[in-house]
Amino acid sequence: MTGVAIRPLADCPGQASRLARWHFGHWGHFYDPADWNLATATAELEDHATRRGRPTTLVAMRDGEAVGSVSLVDEDAPELRGVGDAWLASLFVRPASRGHGIGAALVRACVALAASERVPRLWLFTPEHAGFYAALGWRDQGAATLRGRSVHLMDIVPG
Ligand SMILES: CC(C)(COP(=O)(O)OP(=O)(O)OC[C@H]1O[C@@H](n2cnc3c(N)ncnc32)[C@H](O)[C@@H]1OP(=O)(O)O)[C@@H](O)C(=O)NCCC(=O)NCCS
Repeated sequence: MTGVAIRPLADCPGQASRLARWHFGHWGHFYDPADWNLATATAELEDHATRRGRPTTLVAMRDGEAVGSVSLVDEDAPELRGVGDAWLASLFVRPASRGHGIGAALVRACVALAASERVPRLWLFTPEHAGFYAALGWRDQGAATLRGRSVHLMDIVPG
C-alpha cells in the first residue's frame, strides 16, 4: 500500500476510460454487448465522476495513475434488485499491483463511504472471492444463480 491513496473518481480526472477498459476486459464476457459494452462502461464511470456519493467510484492512485477501483452503487445486477439497494461492485486491482493490500483497502474505503451515507446494509455478490471478503468481515448469505453462474451473496453492516 506504500504510496497508494484512495480518492473519489471525481478527484482523478481522465481515469474513467482506463477503469472502463479494465472492467470491460475482465467482466465484458458476462454481458450481452447490447446491454453493457466499453462505451456504456465508460459512460457509467464518467457519471460516477460527477458525484462523491452513491452511485460513485473510489480509485486507488499511485504516482498519478490508477491501480485499482471499487464502486458503491444502488444496483449491481438487475436480477438481484430485490435483495438490497446498496452494493459494493466492480472491485478491481490491476494484475501488477495485486497482493499488496490494495483490494482490501478499497473494500474498507467503500464500506466507510457507505457508513458515511448511513447505508444500513451493504451487499455484494462474488463468484470466487468469498474468502477474501469474509476475512474483511462480510457475511456469506448463501448462493444465487446469476446468468447461469453460481455466486455467493454477502453482506455487511457498515459502521
Ligand atoms: C480480488 C482482488 C480485488 C484482490 O485484490 P488484491 O489487491 O490482490 O487483494 P489484497 O492484496 O488486498 O488481498 C488481501 C488478502 O486477501 C487474500 N486474498 C486475495 N484473494 C483471495 C481469495 N480469492 N480468497 C481468499 N483470500 C484472498 C490475499 O492473499 C490477502 O491476504 P493477506 O492479508 O493474508 O496477505 C484482485 O485479485 C482482482 O482485481 N481480481 C480481479 C477482479 C475480481 O475478481 N474482483 C472481485 C470481484 S467479486
